[in-house]
Amino acid sequence: MNDRPTILVTGGAGYIGSHAVLALQDQGYPVVILDNLVYGHRDLVETVLQVPLVVGDISDRTLLDRLFQDYPIGAVMHFSAYAYVGESVTDPAKYYRNNVMGTLTLLEAMVAAGISRFVFSSTCATYGVPQAIPLTEDHPQAPINPYGHSKLMVEQILRDFEGAYGLKSVIFRYFNAAGADPQGRLGEDHQPETHLIPLVLQTALGQRSAITIFGTDYDTPDGTCLRDYIHVTDLAQAHLLGLEYLLAGGETNTFNLGNGNGFSVRQVIDSARFITNHGIPVVESDRRPGDPPALVGSSAKAHAILGWLPQYANLNLMVTHAWQWHQQRHG
Ligand SMILES: NC(=O)c1ccc[n+]([C@@H]2O[C@H](COP(=O)([O-])OP(=O)(O)OC[C@H]3O[C@@H](n4cnc5c(N)ncnc54)[C@H](O)[C@@H]3O)[C@@H](O)[C@H]2O)c1
Repeated sequence: MNDRPTILVTGGAGYIGSHAVLALQDQGYPVVILDNLVYGHRDLVETVLQVPLVVGDISDRTLLDRLFQDYPIGAVMHFSAYAYVGESVTDPAKYYRNNVMGTLTLLEAMVAAGISRFVFSSTCATYGVPQAIPLTEDHPQAPINPYGHSKLMVEQILRDFEGAYGLKSVIFRYFNAAGADPQGRLGEDHQPETHLIPLVLQTALGQRSAITIFGTDYDTPDGTCLRDYIHVTDLAQAHLLGLEYLLAGGETNTFNLGNGNGFSVRQVIDSARFITNHGIPVVESDRRPGDPPALVGSSAKAHAILGWLPQYANLNLMVTHAWQWHQQRHG
């Protein structure tokens, strides 16, 4: 008999959440997804994941109370949020309402239902402009946009909820999620898309005329920005380890999830040219305000405490998996 607790995955119809569901299923955890499908994909839940999908909003307390009565939820993995940095600047209310108030409603419903384990998708955007590279978890947090602030506020709420209600959390600060399920079952399908690798692949498929490089005069080896890309399957694996850490009685803790390796915008484009065997036209443009030259994280803590090590740290591998998915879904 399966004695594993049922896991509620909010945002499980989205990119990272759906890969986490696969990882949970692989280990025999029963899963329930809560997703309002604003950005999620019902077809992937129904055809690939085949777990119960509750279509609804994390800010709907009545729905949450019913969900916690209907299913024996032992822990929650919380992926649902809005994550468009630019939109968060022009419409901060939308971000604070969904990412902060929605999460608060979810946490209150958990406390009322006696569920005390929570894995949270935070972000390297909570650090703001790095003072030193690689970023460690104790780097000062000074977000430069409402999206980053909204995630930082939840981190604070989680610490306060541990003190007051005993709710234990693992807070994961991801760097740039990339790639797709190596077996091609799932992948990235954001609409609108703002992430570099899928944009480059859309350009390879001729769906965009060119890829724009914002800034070619940074103090980096090739003048373009360096970012830390982490394979989505490695993120999913970290979530499993974070969950198991909590189930074993672990205290609230925070971990970076990155590769520890920076890849430049030009390196990503060159990798995509190599993998896809397509020419990818480039337009060079001015720097964007707020883009730091390099964002690279240290995940030594996740390695030391959770035993996590990325298995797909190679850029060509991430691009290969993303390309496999993009051709199948959008080709
Ligand atoms: N993609 C990245 O590189 C990255 C980096 C750092 C942090 N994150 C965080 O990881 C999480 C997942 O990101 P993703 O790229 O998979 O995004 P995504 O948009 O693919 O997935 C988010 C899912 O949440 C759902 N959702 C949004 N608001 C909801 C609500 N109020 N109620 C119910 N469902 C709701 C959406 O429909 C979507 O399916 C987010 O919290 C994001 O902030 C992502």
